[in-house]
Amino acid sequence: MSGRARGPEPQTIFDVSAPGRRASSVAQPAGSPAEGLIPPGLRRASPPRLPEVSELDLVRHYTRLSQRNWAIDVGVYPLGSCTMKYNPKVHEDVAGLPGFRNIHPWQPADQVQGALQLLWEMEQYLAELTGMARVTFQPAAGAQGELTGLLIMRAHHTATEGHPRSVVLIPDSAHGTNPASVALGGYKVRQIPSDERGLVDLAALEAALDPSVAGLMLTNPNTLGLFETDIERIAAALHRSGGLLYFDGANFNAILGKVRPGDMGFDIVHMNTHKTFTTPHGGGGPGSGPVAVSARLAQYLPSPVVGYDEAANRWFWDTDRPQSIGRLHGFHGNFGVVVRAYTYLRSLGGEGLVRIAERAVLNANYLRALVREAYPEAHPGTCMHEFVCTAKPLRAKGVRAMDVAKRLIDLGFHPPTVYFPLVVEEAMMVEPTETESRESLDALAAALLQIAGEASSDPELLHEAPVTAPVGRLDEARAARRLHVRWEPGSPWLDE
Ligand SMILES: Cc1ncc(COP(=O)(O)O)c(C=O)c1O
Repeated sequence: MSGRARGPEPQTIFDVSAPGRRASSVAQPAGSPAEGLIPPGLRRASPPRLPEVSELDLVRHYTRLSQRNWAIDVGVYPLGSCTMKYNPKVHEDVAGLPGFRNIHPWQPADQVQGALQLLWEMEQYLAELTGMARVTFQPAAGAQGELTGLLIMRAHHTATEGHPRSVVLIPDSAHGTNPASVALGGYKVRQIPSDERGLVDLAALEAALDPSVAGLMLTNPNTLGLFETDIERIAAALHRSGGLLYFDGANFNAILGKVRPGDMGFDIVHMNTHKTFTTPHGGGGPGSGPVAVSARLAQYLPSPVVGYDEAANRWFWDTDRPQSIGRLHGFHGNFGVVVRAYTYLRSLGGEGLVRIAERAVLNANYLRALVREAYPEAHPGTCMHEFVCTAKPLRAKGVRAMDVAKRLIDLGFHPPTVYFPLVVEEAMMVEPTETESRESLDALAAALLQIAGEASSDPELLHEAPVTAPVGRLDEARAARRLHVRWEPGSPWLDE
């Protein structure tokens, strides 16, 4: 948080409010213009309780708030599984072009041919990269992509077997959205253990397969940063029992242009454009989680999809899809996000894309090797784009993974993901991404090793961290259970 503004830090914009202060100095016409236009019964009796601030107060308040946030534009952000890589600024320029920015989803297809062409071309690129047949851009994030995929799974079994089946298999290392989506999709979760390699236990998988199983959700590389080398056997076993294989594409970054989910035997793939294609993570949205499917599932995709009339060289909305699962999002998803992802693909080209995966894997292995003595890997050996190590050796000194994470903040780094995946004690999941330089990785490794030394020399320093952040240790359980996301006038929670 270097360069943060100093001085008293108000909590909300209301704290800097003073009666009569204004950010705008536009002269008001005499009389209220609303008087003749709005019927008396619909006019407010009293003005809204908005903050009254000068322009400078306003700018300072929000600039200060922005400086309280960590960002990839500020420094290293090795948050495992989240792929916090740099978002090139040219994406914003392209998404802001008037031809993209000023169109409206209700415009007839004839007026937005360029936008439809972009979606169509993007679909071809994603189909090529995943080895799938068709793609929808409706889902707004990876998790919504999961739900889309599971609804497609239901539609498939309902159409081919007369009922949707009832169970979806999930490895014990899976991301929390997987079981949540399974429940939302109307299925029961059956968990598959990992074996000593950190991979899906093949024998346990085969034992769990029966006619109730609709499919298996898998990330490859998995959440331990390891490639599921048995993937072809896994796919064959699933398909033998009539199940479908779902690819959680959160880790697609690691294999982009190297190996395709379709060639591994996957039937349904979601991609997180904010991870793989460097669209903004955006604190929850708007996002995009395109879903790609094999040819036999294409008829179930959300409607409409983009069609192309080759003879007329025109693009159109194909709404004639009687077996579609329906809509998952208003209009056609978050188009501006797809424009950014498209820009990324076009600016890198085929060769550049392959280098993404190579650099991501190289960076993770470089960092892993630098810190492994202090933080041993959960599963020793080469990793893919991220690695899971453990802070367990520090526990004897009273130091936990959480202390390491908090101390990193004081040293100028965002912490890695901690305590996930759940199958590793004192887990630290580190994903440096391909956009970090060797110098950045060296600096992060030095900070991690310094902390391991401090665990012996001054453990209290680690328990107190962070001391340089606007707030210290939070009561995270309370923050989650008593979540207040709305300011209410006079609410006591601010003072608690
Ligand atoms: C393995 C995995 N699956 C699914 C998701 C959910 O993706 P999203 O955040 O786009 O909803 C994530 C997000 O971090 C993830 O890491």
